[in-house]
This record gives sequence, C-alpha cells and structure tokens, in this order.
Amino acid sequence: MPEGNGTVALAFSGGLDTTVCVSLLKEEYGYDEVIGVTVDVGQPDYEFEEAQETAEALGVEQHVVDAKAEFADLCMEAVKANADYQGYPLGTALARPVIAKAILSVAEEEGCSAVAHGCTGKGNDQLRFEAVWRDSDLDVIAPVRELGLTREWENEYAAEKGLPVEGGDGGRYSIDTNLWSRSIEGSELEDPSMIPSDDIYKWTDNPSDKDAELVEVEFEDGVPVAVDGEALGGVELIEQLNEQAGSHGIGRTDMMEDRMLGLKVRENYEHPAATVLLTAHEALEGLVLTQEERQFKAQVDQEWSQKAYQGLVDAPLTGALEAFIDDTNERVTGTVTVKLEGGHCRPVSRESDYAVYSESAASFNEEDVSGGITQQDATGVAKYHGFQSRLANKILDDVKKGTAVTDGSGEGSANSNGSAASEATEE
Ligand code: ARG
Repeated sequence: MPEGNGTVALAFSGGLDTTVCVSLLKEEYGYDEVIGVTVDVGQPDYEFEEAQETAEALGVEQHVVDAKAEFADLCMEAVKANADYQGYPLGTALARPVIAKAILSVAEEEGCSAVAHGCTGKGNDQLRFEAVWRDSDLDVIAPVRELGLTREWENEYAAEKGLPVEGGDGGRYSIDTNLWSRSIEGSELEDPSMIPSDDIYKWTDNPSDKDAELVEVEFEDGVPVAVDGEALGGVELIEQLNEQAGSHGIGRTDMMEDRMLGLKVRENYEHPAATVLLTAHEALEGLVLTQEERQFKAQVDQEWSQKAYQGLVDAPLTGALEAFIDDTNERVTGTVTVKLEGGHCRPVSRESDYAVYSESAASFNEEDVSGGITQQDATGVAKYHGFQSRLANKILDDVKKGTAVTDGSGEGSANSNGSAASEATEE
C-alpha cells in the first residue's frame, strides 16, 4: 500500500462514489489523510446529514462551506443572460465552478497536496471541476475515471470493505440538487422511451386544477429583487419561488441533452423558480430593449449559456459577453406580473420607466405616429419592402425560362412602382 502523499481534499457528498473514493485515495493513491469538503449550494438538509454521518463513520474530517449566496449571485447572472442550454436552465452547470472554488480554498488553507472528485469519465462535471482546479499547483485526482469504476464494482468494493453505504445501491437515481434546479438521472430513466413515474419529482406537484395565481416580480438592472412587493435577497427569492411555482407544477424538463464530450443523455429536471424568473426577465427585456438589441442579445445569451454549460464562467469571453449583458440590463428595471397556472407560467403585465413604447404611436386610435411622421409616410417604405426579393425571384424565373437579360446590369428590371418589372421578358 503506497503512502506518504500528504492530504487530499475530496469533493464529498456522502454518496456511493465519494465514499468509495475516500478508501481508494488512501489505499490506491497513498494519501495519508482525506478531507471531505461539502459545499452548500442549496441542497436539502438531509444531504448534509447523510454526508456528515458518512464522514464520521469513515473517520474523515468534513468541512462544510456555505456558498449559497455566491451561487445565487451566479443564478442572477444567468437570469440576465436568459440562460438555458438546449432548454435546461443550467443548475448543475452553474453550481460546479462555485463548488470547485470552495474546495480549492479549503485545500489551500489546509495545506493539501491534491484535490479529488468522484466524477466519471463520461460526464460534464469532471471538466467543470478541473477547469477550476488545474489553475492551481495541486494534483488533481479522479479515482472513478482513472480506475474505470462502475457502480456495480463500487457496491461490491463498499460491501467488501464494510464502507457505510446506505441501502447498498446508493439510491435508485443519481440526483443533483441546488437552489436553481434538481436533476434526476440514471436507472430506468436512461432509456429515452421510458415514461418517468411522477415520483421522480420532489419540487413540483403534478399540475392540477389548483386556482391560477399571479406573482409580481420586481427587477433592478436585470436582477430580481422583490416578489409581490417584498424585497428579498437572492437565496430567499429563489427558495420562495421554487415553493410557490412548484405547487403549480411549473418547471419540469424531460429532454435529450448533448454533453460536452458528445454523448447524448436523457435528463429530467425540475426548476420552478428558474422558469418564472427567466420568463419574467425576458418579458421585461421585451419592453425596454430595442428590436436590434433583443436580436443581438439572443446570440450573446446563447454564447453565455454555452460557456456556463462548460463551467467556464471565468473565461475572458464570458466576461466580455457580460459587459454587453450588463450594459443592456441597466434598463431592465421594472415589474412583471406572471400567471402561474396548471404547469405553465406566462407574463400577463409589464411596466418600466425605460419602456421603449409609445401608446399613441402604436395605437389604432391615433392617426399619426409621432415626431411629424404620418401613416402616409409608410407608403414609400411599403413600396421598397421586399423589392430585392421580388427582383431576385423574377430573375431566377427568367433564367429558367431562358428570357434573362444578359448584360448583367439588372437595369430596367423594376418599374417605378417598385415591382419586378416585365421589361426583362419584353426585351
Ligand atoms: N447533465 C447535467 C449537466 O451536466 C446535470 C447532471 C446532474 N448530475 C446528476 N448526477 N444528476 O449539467
């Protein structure tokens, strides 16, 4: 048995993977001591209890780091970026860099020589953790990946070593929970054609005929700051909306997800608060941003989401995208009312001092627009609109029929009425 490698800080949940890792880090990798680090990004209490019990049973020193506020701040960045990846609001992805940084801090404070995680070599999380850790001088250890472990092998190993693994199979599904979302994967859910039973969901009730409810969300610079007139910090605001919207069955996603390594996986998520906040935020942007800003921002948002999915929230590109996102969001201040009803939510009202909206300009009841622009002024625009397309179609037609003008100038192909003229065929 190798030894003398010092202390390693392990991302520790108390589940099967990380429990097996504790033993392997000592026996296979030769670490003298393993410190378990559990980072609080809003998991339910029983997960911490389980981690603590397991750590005690293993004789491992456990550190719990509260990173909820920092994580909530990142979720608010995601709101500003209307962030989703293939329809998934990025809970796990956003949490990983926060967790990785917290573990690295503990490892450095405790004078560790290495950091370790229990991720497999197939998923995204190994990449997200290591993107942060490989910026340090510490060794990075990934026992499950490096030793090619399967859950079956882990269960046998745990039994053989008498490791404290509850129920023997570490739970039916692989669950990952944080403030922003709850992810459920594994077991029969791996089959994309398998219809999941309702009991996989814990945050969302089945949509029922429960009365619809209105909720008013107030934004300042793109960040939600109050619900129904009550000012709330990020953590409380997300927690409250998870409860409220979850009771209407809002925020379930059942999808095929393309992982970074190219593997397609079936994923189930629930994310009630995220769905409400993203819906409300987008509605407010619709009121205050110009058409061209909205169009360009949709691309910026997708790029930001992509980097967030990769766990690269500190990449220079992410920062540059955030400069645009923050600049436009300086006007995303106001309130949106969202209707929660039968598993769905939709904006039903929005207000802002920055509204790029003139009721008289758009109204059917006013003759003129504003600033001396009359309805008749649109005639010229209407004549030109689509001119190039009409011309292109006409030319295509003529070429097919063999009646095209051959000088290539296209001149005389449109008459003064703006239509693609018949001159080409007349010649
Ligand atoms: N596939 C998602 C992601 O990479 C979530 C994975 C959550 N993990 C879990 N064991 N349920 O972001």
